[in-house]
Amino acid sequence: GKSPWRVWNENSSSDMLNKRLHKVFKMYRAMNKYNMPLQKQGPRRSHKRSAQELLCQLRNQVKVQTLGTQQPPFNTQEWAMFLPSQNLSQELGSLKNCAVVSSAGSIRNSHLGREIDSHDAVLRFNAAPTSKYQSDVGKKTTVRLTNSQVMASDEFRFLDSPLYGEGILVAWDPAPYSADLLEWYNKPDYPIFTRYKEYRRRHPSQSFHILHPAVQWQLWEVIQENTGEEIQRNPPSSGLLGALLMMSVCEQVHIYEFLPSRRQTDLCHYYEKFQDAACTMGAYHPLLFEKNLVKRINQGSDLDIFQLGRATVPGFQSLNC
Ligand code: C5P
Repeated sequence: GKSPWRVWNENSSSDMLNKRLHKVFKMYRAMNKYNMPLQKQGPRRSHKRSAQELLCQLRNQVKVQTLGTQQPPFNTQEWAMFLPSQNLSQELGSLKNCAVVSSAGSIRNSHLGREIDSHDAVLRFNAAPTSKYQSDVGKKTTVRLTNSQVMASDEFRFLDSPLYGEGILVAWDPAPYSADLLEWYNKPDYPIFTRYKEYRRRHPSQSFHILHPAVQWQLWEVIQENTGEEIQRNPPSSGLLGALLMMSVCEQVHIYEFLPSRRQTDLCHYYEKFQDAACTMGAYHPLLFEKNLVKRINQGSDLDIFQLGRATVPGFQSLNC
């Protein structure tokens, strides 16, 4: 690169991981927890796509959808009481400028709060709080994307913490590669369905969607197809899923601290003391390769990444494919 700013290298490979993370990476790569068929495994031989081609591939190959009551096992009276009648895109409508706020420790001391809140919609992840951190992360929460582990584990107090009470909730859970709804329903990674119902009973007026499990594997496929090595056979992180979700409804999306700024740190989350480089570089999730993809489609400058941790990507409606 010609840029004087040292930012995320879009050709990052597993070789750049430290010894411990490389071992963890290889361990996850050797597993096939979600039963991906053999022919789907391993790197693809494809030409190096341009940013525009990548964006169009994302738009065309990943169908962002939330669960409705059309398909079994959700076509029951019980599920009709719980699931929203509108899908998420209908509910959000079309938005202009959106912000996706990663939970990385490096957003600390960023003073990005006001900039983040100036967007028409702000997406946050899992247990990421705003109170006490407003000056760095803002206070507006339009959408909160939560994984099923956060919903299920006692430490997050998902059912009664006010943290989850603002904005629209969207939940996801790693599903079998087949994305077979019945198979997933009977054996989710974490008990997403029971927790979802319980939350809806306790907070009946809050909008709450479940991401269709096909989304995670369609997105995984785009990551693998554009990576020169075999990636972990696990779903992408909430971070990339959230960015994709906003790209499907917004004209433009700013993604904060997904590509680390000059504040890059081993601090896992801005709201915790826990330190682990795996949070930024990936272990279970193919996060390293997700970041390569975002760097490749970024339309902002390297200086924006370096100073603000900000990547800028166009929404799907703004593309000419
Ligand atoms: O850890 P959690 O999944 O709640 O964080 C939300 C998202 O923020 C992650 O899925 C990941 O994409 C991103 N993240 C990151 N670097 C970190 C922590 C989180 O890129 N250090």
